Amino acid sequence: MTRVGVLGATGYTGIELVRLLRKHPRVKITYLSSQSFAGKDLREVYPHTRHEDKLQPVDLDKVAEACDLVFTALPAGVSYEIGTVLAQKGLKVIDLGADFRLDNPSVYAKWYNKEIRYSDNLRRIYGLTELYREEIRNAKVVGNPGCYPTSVLLGLAPLLKSDYWNGTVVIVDAKSGVSGAGRTSKTEYAFSEINEAVKPYKVVSHRHRPEMEQELSKLANRPVRVVFTPQLVPMTRGILSSIYLSEVNASLKELLNLYKDFYRDEYFVHVLPEGAYPSTKWVQGSNHVFISLVLDERTGTLVILSAIDNLVKGASGQAVQNMNVLFGFDEREGLDVEPIYP
Ligand SMILES: NC(=O)c1ccc[n+]([C@@H]2O[C@H](COP(=O)([O-])OP(=O)(O)OC[C@H]3O[C@@H](n4cnc5c(N)ncnc54)[C@H](OP(=O)(O)O)[C@@H]3O)[C@@H](O)[C@H]2O)c1
Repeated sequence: MTRVGVLGATGYTGIELVRLLRKHPRVKITYLSSQSFAGKDLREVYPHTRHEDKLQPVDLDKVAEACDLVFTALPAGVSYEIGTVLAQKGLKVIDLGADFRLDNPSVYAKWYNKEIRYSDNLRRIYGLTELYREEIRNAKVVGNPGCYPTSVLLGLAPLLKSDYWNGTVVIVDAKSGVSGAGRTSKTEYAFSEINEAVKPYKVVSHRHRPEMEQELSKLANRPVRVVFTPQLVPMTRGILSSIYLSEVNASLKELLNLYKDFYRDEYFVHVLPEGAYPSTKWVQGSNHVFISLVLDERTGTLVILSAIDNLVKGASGQAVQNMNVLFGFDEREGLDVEPIYP
């Protein structure tokens, strides 16, 4: 059995990792950390978890002794030192935050107010499994993608790798459930602020914008810019991204063929037939992604809709998928669950 630790087990992505890892046939959880609840049992924080699990503070020597792999489900800025030290001690690290996602340290410093410098032997890779599977196999540290970027990059990858679009600006309007903000007690996420409301935030200035631009530019092999409007909607889980591109040089049939071909062997990515639109209900609790394409021939605009569960494919599910790749397990192991419906 592979021994895994979850640092930040009391957060939303941490407890989602615990849920998925408990059902994984090839791993055993050997370390769970919390800062505020260290010394308590996980059941005292989450009574629905029926296992006896002591929560411990992050002690790097103890983590290194107890684990073969750690998931760092910690706030941005906290994982960088922890992940670097643990990788140097020989562990595999999958970080769910942003500390290992951005190629350019000055872009990271600008958006996360912290100086970082990746050591040369870190073998760090951006962990969008469907795009970087081969590189992930040999990585030491995986920077698991952000939730919005996962939905947008999977929605755009086939098109940007093709010759059907030569533009440089993509417009993204994305709606997210409130768990995307983590288990925080900030007023702006209180029930009475969110319920019966749709609330834009950080319009054109969200931290996921540079991450999307980094990866889209690599896919297209030219600089691509994103106009990004994230919005909170009154649901717990889920992201629906609506992506708009003008001047696409292909028919809908050609585009659908391109997408179906690109994702032909991908178990978790589903391209919907013409006229079908994805719903966040279809992915609640599951690692699946639903994508649909709509071509407005009148204006020459392509609309791409992409639905994921922010806590599963957008975070902990993709992290488990990456672990499966890193350790040579079947990619579906621990993840082959149906969504909760309705
Ligand atoms: N929520 C999402 O949908 C989502 C999706 C993709 C990626 N992410 C990223 O994943 C990471 C975790 O997100 P989350 O939503 O799970 O956050 P969260 O619910 O706020 O949980 C944060 C966790 O980190 C621990 N922690 C906080 N500060 C710490 C410190 N200084 N040292 C050690 N542990 C500390 C907390 O422990 P205690 O509270 O027990 O002290 C808690 O377990 C973030 O970087 C986030 O951006 C989140």
